[in-house]
Amino acid sequence: MAIKANVEKVEPGSFAAVVADEIVASILENVEDHGRCTLVLSGGSTPSAIYRLLARPPRVHEVPWSKVHLFWGDERWVSSDDSQSNYRMVCETLLSHRKSPEENVHRVDTSLPDPAEAAALYGAHLRQFFGVAEDEVPVFDIVLLGVGTDGHTASIFPSSEVVADRVSLCKAVQLPPAAGSRVTLTPPVLFAGRRILFLVKGRDKADIVRRVFLGSETVEELPAKLYEHGAERVTWFLCSEAARELDGVLA
Ligand code: 6PG
Repeated sequence: MAIKANVEKVEPGSFAAVVADEIVASILENVEDHGRCTLVLSGGSTPSAIYRLLARPPRVHEVPWSKVHLFWGDERWVSSDDSQSNYRMVCETLLSHRKSPEENVHRVDTSLPDPAEAAALYGAHLRQFFGVAEDEVPVFDIVLLGVGTDGHTASIFPSSEVVADRVSLCKAVQLPPAAGSRVTLTPPVLFAGRRILFLVKGRDKADIVRRVFLGSETVEELPAKLYEHGAERVTWFLCSEAARELDGVLA
């Protein structure tokens, strides 16, 4: 059975550079096309090496940062200086170039009293920024996503009610007691993106990658399968180790 998905298999050593170049090219295409680029950033550890490359020569000089608006696909409910904060990770990597105007950095405000309020405000901010009505969904130019070994993407976790949410733009999610809360963009927003790049690296992701492409689990069991809602606009960047259980079925 051949996989019906756009998959780029990349050697681990060049993964960050290949993805960084793809992001630069896509940013430039969008700026050329409509004068700006709206980019949803993924959290976690995989993207940090990519963000660092974007913040350094030569790539940092290729991107018109004043025309790039940065958003977060999800955020952990911690203070912005917490080591678990996706905002902090981006500040220490991508934003270390200090070329992004403050008004271009659209972060989730985790200083608010609770994640539900932060999610509502972030959703309202998206409506205002994109000028979309209550029954419309903002369309981001580029959406970056990762996949957890349990099949979550952004902070859309297995069996979470947000998997089926087709109304909200942004939701607060409560994780198992020890793992706290998160704020996440919802599937309608994430998968409306003009381009969606899944970034998956590491041997530990091989099993989940196989299950996403070849397994029979539902999107509730394996939220990363939501990619099928926009498959033609999705590119999976898989390092060869994460793709190793697909050998023989990659087109
Ligand atoms: C987060 C991310 C999450 C991440 C996956 C993969 O806030 O953690 O948004 O969805 O992309 O957990 O994380 P790694 O890239 O670190 O494996």
